[in-house]
Amino acid sequence: MSQNNLNQQWQNLADPWIKEMREGSNANRKGLLDPPMLEACGNINGKKILDCGCGEGRFSRMLAKRGAANVLGIDLCEKMIEAARELKSEAEEYRIADVQDLSFIQGEEFDLAISYLNQCDLPDFIANTNEVFRILKPGGKFIIANLHPMRSAVGCWLKDDNGKKKHVVLDDYFAEGQRHWKMMGVELTNFHRTLATYTKAYSDAGFSIERIIEPTATAEMIDIYPELIDELRVPNFIIYILSKN
Ligand SMILES: C[S@@+](CC[C@H](N)C(=O)[O-])C[C@H]1O[C@@H](n2cnc3c(N)ncnc32)[C@H](O)[C@@H]1O
Repeated sequence: MSQNNLNQQWQNLADPWIKEMREGSNANRKGLLDPPMLEACGNINGKKILDCGCGEGRFSRMLAKRGAANVLGIDLCEKMIEAARELKSEAEEYRIADVQDLSFIQGEEFDLAISYLNQCDLPDFIANTNEVFRILKPGGKFIIANLHPMRSAVGCWLKDDNGKKKHVVLDDYFAEGQRHWKMMGVELTNFHRTLATYTKAYSDAGFSIERIIEPTATAEMIDIYPELIDELRVPNFIIYILSKN
């Protein structure tokens, strides 16, 4: 599928997505991914940060509120960027751009780069990884939240006759490529790759893999977001903390 067609899917999804991000409960983000992502970012006071595939700007705003000097959010979807600009503070900038080609950024300018559920959307995540390596200052970090490879492979919950979840079926793990599904009723395409493919590309780009986190729900978060209970059984997400030494 061409990059234009992939982007059209995000244009189609943008209105319900923006509404959900701004008015929905966002259990996966607030209850599962935000805490380890923010912790991985560390002290961001005064830092210059790139947010790859920023969507409507949710995480960029969080970083700006926490003291980042400048956050540049980039996304290919015009509607997402328009929405992000509506709520932006002085510390934020948003630009329509493809995260696989950062040629508009000269060199080693950024302290930190974020990819919050974006690499699974990219036909060429290696290009994005190499580009981020290029634009980070020495000592900079790239923090990536992604779909867990175990869950981006073909798989679903197998249920008993009463609809009770028995276990997740995993298949075709080694068949990398496109996965087509629907989100909020809209056709969406993701890309599945194995854990080995991701980690090899990070090392090949020159990054050290500092840490891999498989977020799971805490009892406290399950009290607030009961829908996270299955996260105790099967991981949906993974976070890579990479550093440019
Ligand atoms: C799952 S959303 C995540 C948005 C945001 N990071 C968040 O967590 O709310 C993925 C985003 O990546 C964007 N995207 C997909 N392919 C892209 C590309 N090649 N370059 C830039 N953005 C892209 C989509 O438009 C969408 O906004």
